[in-house]
Amino acid sequence: MLYLLDSGSPGDVRYCKEYYPLAGVTTNPSIIAKEMRAGEKRGFWQLLEEIRGIIGPKKMLHVQSVQKQAEGIVEEARLLESRIGGALYVKIPVGAEGLKAAMKLKGLGIGVTMTAVFTPAQALMAAEAGADFVAPYVNRLDNVAGGGCGVVEEIVRVLELHKSGCKCLAASFKNTWQVHNCAMSGCQSVTMSADIFRAVLGHPLTDAAVEGFDRDWKSVFGERTILSEDL
Ligand code: G3P
Repeated sequence: MLYLLDSGSPGDVRYCKEYYPLAGVTTNPSIIAKEMRAGEKRGFWQLLEEIRGIIGPKKMLHVQSVQKQAEGIVEEARLLESRIGGALYVKIPVGAEGLKAAMKLKGLGIGVTMTAVFTPAQALMAAEAGADFVAPYVNRLDNVAGGGCGVVEEIVRVLELHKSGCKCLAASFKNTWQVHNCAMSGCQSVTMSADIFRAVLGHPLTDAAVEGFDRDWKSVFGERTILSEDL
């Protein structure tokens, strides 16, 4: 499983890189705008350069184009590639213009993540156009009619059936159950907020177990640790 952080916050990126097996970072225009509204002083490019600096060139950075027409998307993708570089994936909302851009970008050797995917049919066509990743939005589907993880399962299956190298990058998570269900369906990658990273790992029984170990140890050894010389 590739775990990616869905955030434009350098603080979140630093934290997740330090504590979790982080494969990369994903952003989108809403995420970037949220940082700016929250008082981020750096401009768009500085923010992305900062994130690239934190994760280094090998971890993935997915950045979305804001253009609607294929030509504009390709132009933005080339600029992103030249300014941000490293393992860069240009995110493009799925659609005819997006597919046209994706096919051009594949010829240029630029990574593509087709985003805002809501059906397995969209995912398969995006994959055939050369997308490296397709990103279905699990919670947004759950909010409308449920079945977000079912859509992810079908995407994984249809990509396998057609022997596509494209990976499913499930996104839009609001709880750990959604993440787990995607993992059980064989989904190769997920992108989630720092809060969901914390939630996936946390469990009250783990906390209780650790408290018990601590209590029992201290009842015999006091404040000494394994590093203490008088153990
Ligand atoms: O990567 C897409 C994701 O950011 C959408 O998440 O929480 O806005 O549905 P959300």
